[in-house]
Parts: sequence; structure tokens; C-alpha cells
Amino acid sequence: MLKIAVLAGKGGVKKSSLSRTLAARLVARGMNTVGLDTDVDQASFARWMQRRVNNGIEPTFPVTADVKANWIRTKLDDMNYDAAVIDGAAYASRDTLAIAEVVDLTIIPTGYSVDDIESAIRVGKALLEGGIKRRNILIAFWSVLESTSQHRDRLAFIQAQGFNVTAGYVPLKPTYSTAMDFGQALTEVSAAGLRTTARVFIDEIIQRAIEVKTDG
Ligand SMILES: Nc1ncnc2c1ncn2[C@@H]1O[C@H](COP(=O)(O)OP(=O)(O)O)[C@@H](O)[C@H]1O
Ligand SMILES: [Mg+2]
Repeated sequence: MLKIAVLAGKGGVKKSSLSRTLAARLVARGMNTVGLDTDVDQASFARWMQRRVNNGIEPTFPVTADVKANWIRTKLDDMNYDAAVIDGAAYASRDTLAIAEVVDLTIIPTGYSVDDIESAIRVGKALLEGGIKRRNILIAFWSVLESTSQHRDRLAFIQAQGFNVTAGYVPLKPTYSTAMDFGQALTEVSAAGLRTTARVFIDEIIQRAIEVKTDG
């Protein structure tokens, strides 16, 4: 089972949006996928799926709410899925490491702000100190205000800290926000250009997860 977790040290960096889109894309690529929502307070992955079901958007897939790190560590492997996407809580805790230990890839979403970047680096370093390997961590630019110079600057900064980071980014767009409201993934928006942007970005992440898993 391919296991990907989206974890962060702060709220609002769009963990749930990335989780939803990743899971929807895995399903579209033919993988039997489950979403696991560990955010007890928000349950926004599970709520989004409810909107998706209510609005008749296909395909649907199972999203389990209120999932505990211990369940992920002990029971997930018994489930008959090709892939699992784990949406993290709004803050870092012991569970962050407990989950990162059992997944193929941990994604840390960030914008270009110093607040976001510093938080992402902090979480990444905490994972390294906890014994997670660099290759199992990927920092991902998500919902950024487009700026070529900021992108170049932040990319170089993160790489200088020794972390893997997505080459591309997902921009902040009203179309994407409306899609999330409606129960769609970013890879499902009707605007072809934005749909392609999201697909290329997500496929890069999936490719990386598959490579990490295959290399053991
Ligand atoms: N690329 C984007 N462009 C515009 N809005 C976005 C984008 N990604 C996410 N959002 C909006 O941000 C909201 C909150 O994001 P969410 O994924 O729930 O954050 P978190 O899980 O980190 O708290 C989403 O409901 C969606 O409307
Ligand atoms: Mg969330």
C-alpha cells in the first residue's frame, strides 16, 4: 500500500486541500484509495467528501474521520487499499512523527511567507531528529501568491537546508477555492490550464512517493 501523509506545524497551509487532491488523483489513476482524516477538530477532509457526495461528484472514495495515529500504525496494513492519504492535524505533535514513521512520503505544504517556510523547516528538522530520512520528506509549495523571484528565493533557501522541495507550485486561485467548496479536487476544475497545473504538480508528488517506496 502506498502511504502518503500531509503534515505541518501550523494551520492554514492547506494540508486538507492537498490531501483531498492527492487522494482524488490517485483514484483517477486507478488506485483503490482511502482518505484518513486525523484532524479531530476540523475533519475537513471528511466534510469535503460529504459535499462531494451531496453534489453528485464522481468518483467518490472512502474518507474516514477521527483516525488516530496508533490505528494508522497498527491497523492500516490490514485494509485492502492500494493507497492511503493521511491528512494531518492543524499542529505538530508526537503523532506527527508517529505517522511519518510508517508512511512512504511525508509532504509538508508551505506558502512563500517566512512564517510558512520557517514552520515547514522546523517540522522537517523535527522529523529528521526523530529518525525520518530526508528522502521520505517533501516540502510542497501550495496556494502561493505567484512570484517568480520569491519562488526562486524560497526554493533555494529550502534546498540549502537540505530538504527536498517540489520544483513547481500550486498558485492561489479563486477557481481552486470554489472547487474545494463544491467538493471537487484541484485536478478536477473545468479551467483547463489550472487543471493541468494541479495534475502536473500532484503527479510529481505521486511519482516521488512511488520511487521512494520502490527503492525501499
Ligand atoms: N490553491 C488554492 N487557491 C485558493 N484557495 C485555496 C487553495 N488551496 C486551498 N485553498 C482554500 O483554502 C481553504 C483552507 O485550506 P485547508 O486545506 O483546509 O487548510 P489546512 O488543512 O492547512 O487548515 C480551502 O478550503 C480552500 O478554499
Ligand atoms: Mg486541515
